[in-house]
Amino acid sequence: MKFNIALLAGDGIGPEVVDQAVKVSNAVAEKYNHEISWTPALTGAAAIDAVGEPYPDETHDVCLAADAVLFGAIGHPRFDNDPSAKVRPEQGLLKMRQKLGLFANVRPTFTFPSLIDKSPLKRERIEGTDLVFLRELTGGIYFGKRGREDNGNTAFDTCAYTRDEVERLARKGFEMAQQRSGKLCCVDKANVLETSRLWRETVQNLESDYPNVEVSYEFVDAVAMRLIQWPNSYDVLITENLFGDVLTDEASVISGSMGLMPSASIGEKTSLFEPIHGSYPQAAGKDIANPLATVLSAAMMFETAFGLKEEAKAIRDVVNKSLAEGVVTEDLADGGKAYKTSEVGDWLATHV
Ligand code: IPM
Ligand code: MN
Repeated sequence: MKFNIALLAGDGIGPEVVDQAVKVSNAVAEKYNHEISWTPALTGAAAIDAVGEPYPDETHDVCLAADAVLFGAIGHPRFDNDPSAKVRPEQGLLKMRQKLGLFANVRPTFTFPSLIDKSPLKRERIEGTDLVFLRELTGGIYFGKRGREDNGNTAFDTCAYTRDEVERLARKGFEMAQQRSGKLCCVDKANVLETSRLWRETVQNLESDYPNVEVSYEFVDAVAMRLIQWPNSYDVLITENLFGDVLTDEASVISGSMGLMPSASIGEKTSLFEPIHGSYPQAAGKDIANPLATVLSAAMMFETAFGLKEEAKAIRDVVNKSLAEGVVTEDLADGGKAYKTSEVGDWLATHV
């Protein structure tokens, strides 16, 4: 098969980790007789510097024309400490999610047998964890009306959801639960928030369409606690944008390193694949960042966007092999040899 992939490296460690995913994807493509053409495009602070806009129209056109988007990271400290900045790299990310209609963000959390003792959580609590969040990505408080009143002394952000927005996300959750263990958890704050009551009502109305899925409804504060106490009790979790943002960072701790967890964003147009970690500016250009989250995002791309399960498995297998053999970056080296980002990428590409 032939694929055209938009390559949005972005900021900080983005270009370095994306490079490794490209190497590994090309190696897999060669092994299974596929042809990939990569089309790079600007995004984030890099795009602001070049054209004054974090998600330029040309980049959007490249994404629309592609079979999938592989994305690195976005964000630069120069903007974080300047509350008056008019253009921010993160706006590019939000605009991209909205314009590509990426309403469902799939964020798995699983453990690697060889890394279980790297997690700050006890082995017996996390062993066997394999859960997935479906975070709503184009609605809620991220996109609601916001502003200042009272001469700038009062600020507000509003959270709004339509029934349709909840339903399309929830259906993806039900479908995913059907393919997994049949358990779905709706995470909300229905004891306080009206939007959460709409979520709960909408999900309840869908239950009869999926009789083989067992649904539980839990409040977000309780999930924050249970998630690290008994991660094994969860399978598929659906939730709104901001709750999902917070809970998926928390969940990534279970796997042992932020540098390990991949994600997929799917919706109306081209799907996008990206590591859940950020741009890690302190490490940028040093060839030390862990590329595995991005490499595993490429595996999700082969599976989800191209329907190529065997290719995806080949990537996951070689990642597991590298971990088992200690071919790891410094975040996982634990006093042993720390490989460079590019060395890990080369090793994976050779051994796939
Ligand atoms: C994420 C990030 C983004 C978000 C930021 C960078 C806008 O934290 O992808 O989780 O909050 O969605
Ligand atoms: Mn986040």
